[in-house]
Amino acid sequence: MGILSGDSLAGLVQIPSWHVVLAGLTAFVVVAIVVNVLAQILFRDPNQPPVVFHWIPVLGSAVSYGMDPYKFFEDNRKKFGDVFTFVLLGRKMTVALGPKGNDFILNAKLSDVSAEDAYHHLTTPVFGKGVVYDCPNHRLMEQKKFAKSALTVQAFRTYVPAIVEEARKYWLKSPQFFGGDSNRASGNAHLLTAMPELTIFTASRTLQGKQIRAKFDESFADLYHDLDRGFTPLHFVFPNIPIPATFRRDAAQKKVSDTYMELIRERRQSGDFSEMDIINTFLKEAIYKDGVRMTDREIANMQIGILMGGQHTSAATSTWALLHIGADPKLQEALYREQIEVCGEDLPELTYENLQSMPLLNATIRETLRMHMPLHSLMRKVRNNLTIEGTHYVVPKGNYVMAAPGVPMIDSNYFTDPMTFRPSRWDEVKNEIKVDANADKATISKGASSPYLPFGAGRHRCIGEQFAFVQLGTILTMFIREFTWTLPEGRGVPKPDYTSMVTLPSEPTNIIWTRRQIAKK
Ligand code: HEM
Repeated sequence: MGILSGDSLAGLVQIPSWHVVLAGLTAFVVVAIVVNVLAQILFRDPNQPPVVFHWIPVLGSAVSYGMDPYKFFEDNRKKFGDVFTFVLLGRKMTVALGPKGNDFILNAKLSDVSAEDAYHHLTTPVFGKGVVYDCPNHRLMEQKKFAKSALTVQAFRTYVPAIVEEARKYWLKSPQFFGGDSNRASGNAHLLTAMPELTIFTASRTLQGKQIRAKFDESFADLYHDLDRGFTPLHFVFPNIPIPATFRRDAAQKKVSDTYMELIRERRQSGDFSEMDIINTFLKEAIYKDGVRMTDREIANMQIGILMGGQHTSAATSTWALLHIGADPKLQEALYREQIEVCGEDLPELTYENLQSMPLLNATIRETLRMHMPLHSLMRKVRNNLTIEGTHYVVPKGNYVMAAPGVPMIDSNYFTDPMTFRPSRWDEVKNEIKVDANADKATISKGASSPYLPFGAGRHRCIGEQFAFVQLGTILTMFIREFTWTLPEGRGVPKPDYTSMVTLPSEPTNIIWTRRQIAKK
């Protein structure tokens, strides 16, 4: 028996060349596509909602949905009606549109649908263990109650001057505004830089106290940035994908949570619970009905959840509002005059009560949320086969259901001329912005059947609505007091960009500002 040489071995074991590998892969993809297409045509289950046609298995309709979810919903509503299913990166999503669809999903029984099953893998690495979607729903309900009990009118009265102070400090320091030169009279600000910063400074100062706010001048801003970058559509699909953003997210979660723990320890040791912030409320009240006390680690993690819950939503909303106000000089002037009327000619320090007396300001926020609901899709995972009321469709266990409360908010059946930004539609605004003769057919209610639900509905409804109005109202008021602004020549309000977790304006998002008082002199 002869010994095989290297050459003869190569002759026996054929190593496939690259074009053979490529041909094999192509054949595999083609077969997968053909099987996927045939399955959609031949095996349609008449008892399940119709499925949006897609060529590529797993990927499904991810591209068309991800690029413009509202167009995707509208196109498919025309084909199928309010209820249909689409494949999103391997998950089957059943959409139920319109107020009825919202009610069906957002008020579904806890035994039938679960938010924690839908969101847990994305949120737990960012918020940390034991809170929000990393605990049974009844625990989340109580955590929300603890947080809500901190958000009182009494607290809001202290928050308004704190936000005013933060805004003034921000104008002075930020390179988007005066950059340290208090005589700077005009400039150009990039809103998607400025508004997230101002939002986190004001939210941390009010909701978590001065000590936490001070940390944002040190390393905290970078750490929260790292948490943010672990909260992306990519992480929604692959929560632990081994990329630098994931490693940084995990390190930041630990450091941020440890920092809150340190503060909690200090407060417990000193016995000083005088600040009206959410941390103190948790320290005093966070004992569940069954007598179990939230641990300090859970209280620490909850702070991340609360700050992040309001961060992107509020930053996006103030950015959109400033862009719309910048595009409409008449609205801007009317908002200024409303302030003078409510607060007085010399514009003394703003109060919580002042904010409540400014209908145009509040209508502007409401209108911003109507046109630019930050969260375009709310999801739940189906735990039991779910019959869709009024149809013969059953959504099987394991699928997801998706509500899109933003859809009725831009539907002409509920809002006249819905793509026009017109705060006057909301109220009996005095001044020169007239009440819309075609008053909206919408009624605002907190039930899920309202066409206006920017804060959701049902058991997962937002707890931050009143705080958001205080924060946004104060920030916008301070902008209007301090500046006039326009959008750069020839540019209107930007189109939405749906590629991040909240709906943002696409770039560029700059405004050109001038200071009122300096301009007057
Ligand atoms: C839930 C919107 C600000 C904390 C929600 C939901 C929506 C929403 C639509 C429901 C999510 C779902 O059903 O899946 C908004 C908007 C905001 C805002 C548009 C600002 C303009 C805030 C703020 C906070 C906050 C400032 C904290 C102070 C929460 C919490 C939940 C929630 C804790 C409950 C999550 C759950 O129960 O599953 N928000 N939010 N939000 N939001 Fe907000």
